[in-house]
Amino acid sequence: MNIIFLGAPGAGKGTQSEIVSEKFAIPTISTGNIIRAALKNETAMGLKARSYIEAGDLVPDDVVIGIIQERLAEDDCKNGFILDGFPRTIPQAEALDAMGIRIDKVIDIEVPDEKIAQRLSGRRVCRNCGNSYHIEYKKPASEGICDACGGDLVQRADDAPETVLERLSVYHEKTEPLKAYYEKKNRLFTVQGQERVEDTTALTLKLLEE
Ligand code: AP5
Repeated sequence: MNIIFLGAPGAGKGTQSEIVSEKFAIPTISTGNIIRAALKNETAMGLKARSYIEAGDLVPDDVVIGIIQERLAEDDCKNGFILDGFPRTIPQAEALDAMGIRIDKVIDIEVPDEKIAQRLSGRRVCRNCGNSYHIEYKKPASEGICDACGGDLVQRADDAPETVLERLSVYHEKTEPLKAYYEKKNRLFTVQGQERVEDTTALTLKLLEE
């Protein structure tokens, strides 16, 4: 199955993608994670993306479309994949269509803007492997330490409150129109984000298994 997770920054796309990826044994592809890895390794693409990410803006379409085109050509995508954070603009969705990629379900996780700030201010990510936690909703076994690799947990630079407001405004302007785009194609399914991760997961799996 080929799945897209849509939703505002911090809606839980990454969290749900990881769970669904494990359950369906298909890879999850996060453009945010790919860009952050490039930034960390100071590749040419990472250096180009830095100013956009730090300002809470989107990286130019041609850069992310190139990333996705290369990644989807890899062998592990043959039996299905999850896109987390792509597409994020209408031109990105059109580029995906032009690649001849069929999308089975687009899961839109709805979380009100007021809740987003709380989620993102409490998020901690592993400096080493990038795994994501929350100080209240998804605690690691030992405070400040990644369960998976033992790395330090830190706050993402773009989770600063001013940058979160900008990311939300960019989401409403450029990404939200994708709901109508996929609704017209009868591919859109909505999940109301719940207080507990497992409750959101139950709703997501129900939609995917229907
Ligand atoms: P990206 O990394 O994709 O950021 P985002 O969309 O802003 O999404 P987040 O990773 O912040 O949130 P999420 O929805 O995955 O939530 P999570 O599961 O972590 O992109 C970063 C940047 O890269 C962009 O701003 C842009 O510059 C660039 N970029 C990436 N893709 C691009 C593209 N296609 N085009 C152009 N530019 C692009 O959850 C958040 C927190 O809440 C966690 O702490 C989690 O534990 C907690 N949580 C999750 N679910 C629940 C729940 N049900 N209840 C309580 N807490 C929960």
